[in-house]
Amino acid sequence: MSESLVIVQGTKEKKYQNILPQIKGLLDGENNLIANMANIASALNMQFHWWWTGFYIVENGELVLGPFQGPVACTRIKKGRGVCGTAWAEGRTIIVDDVNKFPGHIACSADSKSEIVVPLFKNKEVIAVLDVDSEHYSHFDETDKMFLEEIVSLLMK
Ligand code: SME
Repeated sequence: MSESLVIVQGTKEKKYQNILPQIKGLLDGENNLIANMANIASALNMQFHWWWTGFYIVENGELVLGPFQGPVACTRIKKGRGVCGTAWAEGRTIIVDDVNKFPGHIACSADSKSEIVVPLFKNKEVIAVLDVDSEHYSHFDETDKMFLEEIVSLLMK
């Protein structure tokens, strides 16, 4: 495992193509979920500097805050609540261009304007979600969905 990351400038595709193999390297040989989530949150934050990047983990029927980078956040989210709870309930990635227009959005930070939430599956059940928030509107698209789904799936390999 390398101890420092190479960070690039450029398009988001270029940034993902740069960080993806490095994340694979960070996870290689380590199967602790929390440790791997922590390194993914850090690596993504180092490369992209989004407003908030982190995980919520399913525990006793609700989402509980896991490893993250960014400002302090709400600790518990119920199934079907907010973007995270909806991604969990529906078992799919959700992209929100304007959080103010998402019914039930949970505003952990007033500075968050757009968001993507990607579920992590184990045996077809959602066991956690990756939540990324931006301080800019419409910041996330299908490119983010594709790469973040691949990155999250590495946690189960
Ligand atoms: N906005 C999220 C809550 C988590 S924070 O953004 C870190 C939601 O609506 O589920």
